[in-house]
Amino acid sequence: MSVTYFKRFRMEIDLVRAALPRVEPPTGYTLLPWSPELLAAHAEIKHASFRDEIDAYVFPCLGNFSGCLKLMDEICRKARFLDDATWLAAFRHPNGEREFCGTISAVLDASNHGAIQNIGVTPAHRGCGIGTALLMETLSSFQHRGLRRAYLEVTAQNVDAVRLYQRIGFRRTRTSYKAVESAASFV
Ligand SMILES: CC(C)(COP(=O)(O)OP(=O)(O)OC[C@H]1O[C@@H](n2cnc3c(N)ncnc32)[C@H](O)[C@@H]1OP(=O)(O)O)[C@@H](O)C(=O)NCCC(=O)NCCS
Repeated sequence: MSVTYFKRFRMEIDLVRAALPRVEPPTGYTLLPWSPELLAAHAEIKHASFRDEIDAYVFPCLGNFSGCLKLMDEICRKARFLDDATWLAAFRHPNGEREFCGTISAVLDASNHGAIQNIGVTPAHRGCGIGTALLMETLSSFQHRGLRRAYLEVTAQNVDAVRLYQRIGFRRTRTSYKAVESAASFV
């Protein structure tokens, strides 16, 4: 069995010094606060966002709905789950139909830093500011709680995500390598 090593960056932002402007979601979109009834919707959007992406190879649970449901369930059961920093993006179609299209969740780590768990936007809704709006809302929730730092981890090959985080003010602080068995197709 072959093993592939994926380079991962930890990226951090100083919430005390960062000037974070208020970012409204684009027209037609809203951000829904966490509620337990939205658990399956978060999992569904996590799956739809990650299933064709490199992170579904790095973390196979992201490649199927049941894995995403289990992951989201684990996140929201954590004692340090930050429900006020967890958001679901929704788009209202002209016919009134509502479509969920983005997810972000967060927990508090042992150092009282905000740890962003997964951010995902479904492919049809990318590039119009949903990812930015989700991140800014989560960072704003961290600031309201008085948290001083926030961080996330990202696969180095995920250049779109790295660029987005850098644009917002995250900086690389650490590089690690995640060993994955039989993922040669993404090398
Ligand atoms: C990474 C991800 C969440 C970004 O979501 P997104 O909604 O496309 O993000 P945004 O639209 O806010 O920003 C993306 C680009 O669109 C541009 N953009 C932002 N607002 C925009 C707007 N109103 N109109 C047009 N473009 C806009 C941004 O400038 C950005 O450009 P950049 O690539 O030069 O930084 C999304 O690509 C995704 O879900 N990827 C798969 C899952 C994944 O890898 N998640 C990250 C795990 S660490």
